[in-house]
Amino acid sequence: MKNTHTDFLVLGSGMAGLVFALRVASLGKVTILTKKRSVDSNTNYAQGGIAAVLGPDDDYEHHIRDTIQCGEGLCDEDAVRVIVERGPELIRELAEMGVRFSHTKGTFDLGREGGHSRRRIVHAKDTTGREVERALLYAIRRHPDIELLEYHLAVDLIRTGQGEVWGVEAIDLSTGRHRTYLARYTLLATGGAGKVYTYTTNPDIASGDGVAMAYRAGARLANLEFVQFHPTCLYHPRIKSFLISEAVRGEGAILRTLDGNAFMTGYHKMKDLAPRDSVARAIDNEMKTRGDRHVHLDLSAIKPARIRSRFPNIYRTCSRLGIDITKEPIPVVPAAHYMCGGVITDGEGRTNLPRLYACGEVAHTGVHGANRLASNSLLEALVYAVAAAESVARRFEKGRFPRRTTRRQSRKLRQSEKLEIRHNWDLIRTLMWDYVGIVRSTDRLKRARRELNIIQKGIDGALTRYALSADLVELRNIALVGSLIIRSALRRKESRGLQYLQDFPRKSRRFQRNTVVYSRKLD
Ligand code: FAD
Ligand code: SIN
Repeated sequence: MKNTHTDFLVLGSGMAGLVFALRVASLGKVTILTKKRSVDSNTNYAQGGIAAVLGPDDDYEHHIRDTIQCGEGLCDEDAVRVIVERGPELIRELAEMGVRFSHTKGTFDLGREGGHSRRRIVHAKDTTGREVERALLYAIRRHPDIELLEYHLAVDLIRTGQGEVWGVEAIDLSTGRHRTYLARYTLLATGGAGKVYTYTTNPDIASGDGVAMAYRAGARLANLEFVQFHPTCLYHPRIKSFLISEAVRGEGAILRTLDGNAFMTGYHKMKDLAPRDSVARAIDNEMKTRGDRHVHLDLSAIKPARIRSRFPNIYRTCSRLGIDITKEPIPVVPAAHYMCGGVITDGEGRTNLPRLYACGEVAHTGVHGANRLASNSLLEALVYAVAAAESVARRFEKGRFPRRTTRRQSRKLRQSEKLEIRHNWDLIRTLMWDYVGIVRSTDRLKRARRELNIIQKGIDGALTRYALSADLVELRNIALVGSLIIRSALRRKESRGLQYLQDFPRKSRRFQRNTVVYSRKLD
């Protein structure tokens, strides 16, 4: 079978992958593989916006301080400084290339979110991500040197004996064919892993494929225990994974128990705009102690006209479900939202494997520490994608590709095989939700580890019996990512940021460091 050769292989078509692709396209041929439609990404669902110092009362030091305070002692200050200082200029560039951010009186309309001491969230109403994707994809499709291949699932990185990465093995999902993509540089921009949990704000693509591929190839990963749960996902039987942006609380909405108590006053001095870990834990506690299935988000302090103009998507979606948010509260629950850990990268987006870069949610740059500050994620993806492109530009040279042909074949799965895979997905996600969620304990983590081990053995067996289909690839990946989250959580015997361990309820100086994991077993 013929291999495909390219200069730059980009895995993923969210903010990180697209920004990188546009920047390196002047150097050589770029191929983007994305496993569903090009818009299918976490980026496309981003609501609140992008944090940046653009307001008259703001400065870099405030943004840096808010980020570091939220990160609970684990942020890398240099990495934080990079995103904060480069952010404003790059956001202006996005606006110049056609991203239609919301404006007021001729300047960016800046929103507020949890943990921020200033208004600094640039947004496009409540569909910021959709607008960013639209503009970036428009530019990508018009670029003669960028090829974007939808429905192409990256399966595993191609690693030489010296540990260099030269592309991926992938499946063309429209034909079922396995293909080899050889590349001089490979960028992992595969996003997060919310689908490891039963309840998540993430779309279906977020199965942690990049983390799993990187781990199998020998990359070093950090801080996977810090899974961020967003406090306010819509609770409704007819819709899954719909986020109610933190920006709604930024405009004055408050959380209440079902009998009307504004409970955040008892939990944090920033009340409803406290960092996410505190708010999600407070909701979890209220729901558990009261036996309620959700809490309420009360928007009565925001004028109806403002609700409709600032949050049109949230307003419309809730209206369709029969909830008029200008008149009644929104039922909300916390849900898995963001992976603070990931593949360790340096200030240029480089991993420990030569020729492999990573940026966006899949990467660990050190920016987020133990808890990400709201709307710093798109900012990090943007700034580090540019940094990675600049790094590649400094190093790029044409050389010979290694020889490689595809070995694997695939076939369509039988119905019984599909059912077995689906059943294992559900088992893993329930296990992670029940035992590795917002509040953890060593015993429950160990139980999750035991049960996940059994499931993983079953998956290993399936891998020898069945052809490698997309479902099986993702199942193998969520199982691996789940097991790495548990392994990392068990190592951190303290409570800090997003890791709350009931038997170690305090922060410990011994654990003021990153939790690093990597594979010693390489093929
Ligand atoms: P993504 O945008 O997730 O893109 C990943 C890409 O990789 C996708 O195209 C996917 O299909 C592809 N992919 C994955 N695996 C494979 C594979 N094996 N082969 C090929 N392709 C693959 N952050 C903010 O800063 N501000 C916000 O307002 C905000 N709101 C959010 C709202 C929601 C509902 C969600 C879910 C997240 C939000 N976040 C927000 C987080 C932020 O959107 C993400 O962290 C960010 O978009 C990640 O960008 P990315 O490019 O790294 O990954
Ligand atoms: C939101 O709009 O609440 C999401 C912001 C984020 O995840 O940073």
